[in-house]
Order: sequence, then structure tokens, then C-alpha cells
Amino acid sequence: MNEFEGKHILAIESSCDDTSAAILRGNQVLANVVATQAIHAQYGGVVPELASREHQKNIVPAVHEALKIAGIDKSELDAIAVASGPGLLGSLLVGTSFAKSMSLALGIPLLAVDHMKAHILAHFIDDPDQKPLQFPFISLTVSGGHTQLVLVESPDEMIKLGETIDDAAGEAFDKTAKMLNLDYPGGPLIDKHAKDGDPQAFSFPLPKVGGHDFSFSGLKTSILYFLRDRVRENEMFIVERRDDICASVQSTIVEYLVGKLEKAAIDTGVQTISICGGVSANSSLRSRLRNLGETHGWNTRIPKFEYCTDNAAMIGMAGYFMLQKGDFSGPELTPSPRLKF
Ligand code: KG4
Ligand code: ZN
Repeated sequence: MNEFEGKHILAIESSCDDTSAAILRGNQVLANVVATQAIHAQYGGVVPELASREHQKNIVPAVHEALKIAGIDKSELDAIAVASGPGLLGSLLVGTSFAKSMSLALGIPLLAVDHMKAHILAHFIDDPDQKPLQFPFISLTVSGGHTQLVLVESPDEMIKLGETIDDAAGEAFDKTAKMLNLDYPGGPLIDKHAKDGDPQAFSFPLPKVGGHDFSFSGLKTSILYFLRDRVRENEMFIVERRDDICASVQSTIVEYLVGKLEKAAIDTGVQTISICGGVSANSSLRSRLRNLGETHGWNTRIPKFEYCTDNAAMIGMAGYFMLQKGDFSGPELTPSPRLKF
């Protein structure tokens, strides 16, 4: 056992619309509390000002609950990790202000975590069902705000191979869901309806962007025009064919993502492929990743369901790597809404 394995980290995630607090002992998650903000559903998307106010309400109860579940007292904490960007400024301010105050009050180090790196490093959370992941690997990071292909050499060396030039994959799911009158966030609902639909019922053009970059705005427009034309012919079209539309759109997005991931692995020669971020909860993407691994004989890595969408456990895991390197921040820490690596 190394000197860090017994260290307790409190982790805070508040970059978008989930308030989450976790406690880790080394790379083991003792508690991971996520308070999802239902308030945004009625607006069809995240309202930044409301998100900040909800974080303010939720953060203290979430931290208390995490400590209670973990069965430890705050005096036993060794460090505090917090997502400092990218994300919504007001939301990030709530988490970082809380973490700064608590680290000052307890006299323990503060670890400022990049939310996107944390999605990737969630693969290193202790999991008795899987062998520890080895570097290097390729990560397809797909969330509500980002779509990236990353060559991960180590916790600090992450080389971005490509990213979306417009919408993120999660946005493509959410905007399609909105056109189909499904609630926000629409990704999980499209996934659910797609299970009863035919993925070949309708075809949509695959976005054309070279190299390792992505684009989703053309797909969004073609879905919009497709629905407009079909609804003109039959006003019940969306209600009658919702499952088939969901299955067809999902299959288009997933095949596009998987094709790009396959190309990145072939081009780099790296034979371990992984997915992370909210969209990695998608059942079709998860099964297509496994197929891709089997076809090429590559290793595959899929996060546990609870570590796909935003959660503080992944922030704690990234913080654990920083703790070992002594990569600390001080009270001058300010959130970076547009943080890029
Ligand atoms: O990583 P995340 O929780 O938040 C961001 O950092 O953005 O990702 C949220 C995104 C949303 O767009 C949501 O619709 C999508 O992940 N998502 C899914 C599924 N579950 C969540 N998309 C497709 N299928 C799912 N099962
Ligand atoms: Zn995220």
C-alpha cells in the first residue's frame, strides 16, 4: 500500500446542472451523491441562473450526505477536489467557493480538476470486476457540451486528436428529443424509445468532416426538415413513428461516433479504446464499442453507468492523481468556464 491509498478526498462537482459530492479513499469510492436538478425540464434545457441557485441549495446537504454514507467525519478528510472548469460560470463558482472555504477551514489541500479530464480518468476508479486500465488508450469523450477524441498517455498527458466543430453529441440527442416533444435531457429518452424501434426505418446523412473532427449541426437540420415534411403529410407522424425515428437517429449518431473512434485507433496504432461522458450511458454506443473491440481484438473500456453522466466520484479520482503529484491550488483559484486542454 502506498502512502496515498488511505487518504480521504472530498470531491465536488457543480459544473452544469448536477450537484454532486463524493468521498474517495485512494481510488475507492465510499460515497457518490448526485442531486439532479429537475427544475430545468420545464424549460427544455439548462437555465444557468436557476442552476446556480439550485447548486447553492444542494451543496451543503450533498456533502453532509456523502460524509454520512462514507461513515467518516470531516476532520478525517485529507484533501478537497473540485471541478474548476469547463462549465457554467455561476455553477462553477458555487462549487469552487465552497471547496476553497472548506479547504481553508480544515487546513487541507485544494485540488482544481478539469471536468473533461475527470470524465476520462473515471476509468481508474477501483472496480473489482475489471482489470486496471493501462496507458496509452484512446478516449471518445461524449457529453452534453463536448465531443472529443483524446489520446491518453498518462493522467497529465492527454493529446486531443479531434473535436466537434459545432454541436456536441449529447446536444444532437437533446435537440432531436426536443423536436420529438420529449423532455430534457432527451438522450436517455431517445435511448429508451429506440429499443422498440427499427434503426433502418429512416436514413439521415452522416455528417462530413475530415480527420478526427466531428460535426452535428447538419444532421440536426436534416432531422428538422425531415420531420417538417413528414408532419405536413401526416400530423400524427411523430406520435406514430417516434420509436422508429429515435432508433434511426440514434443509429446514425452512434455509427458516426464509432467510425471516428475506429479511425483514431487505426491511425495511432493504440489498441485500447474507451468511451466516457454522459452519452457513454447510451446502450447502443456501449454495445457497438464492445463489437468494435471484438472485431479488431482491441481492449475496450466502458465506465460503470453511474460514472458516465456528471458525478463527483470522477472529480475525486482525477484529484487523487493530482494529490500524488502535489498539484495543489490556493484561495486564488477562479473557475475557468472555457477551460481547454
Ligand atoms: O457528461 P454529462 O452528464 O454532462 C455534461 O458534461 O455535458 O452529459 C450529459 C449528456 C446529455 O446531453 C444527455 O442527453 C446525454 O449526456 N445522455 C445520453 C444518455 N444519457 C445521458 N445520451 C444518449 N443516451 C443516453 N442513454
Ligand atoms: Zn460532463
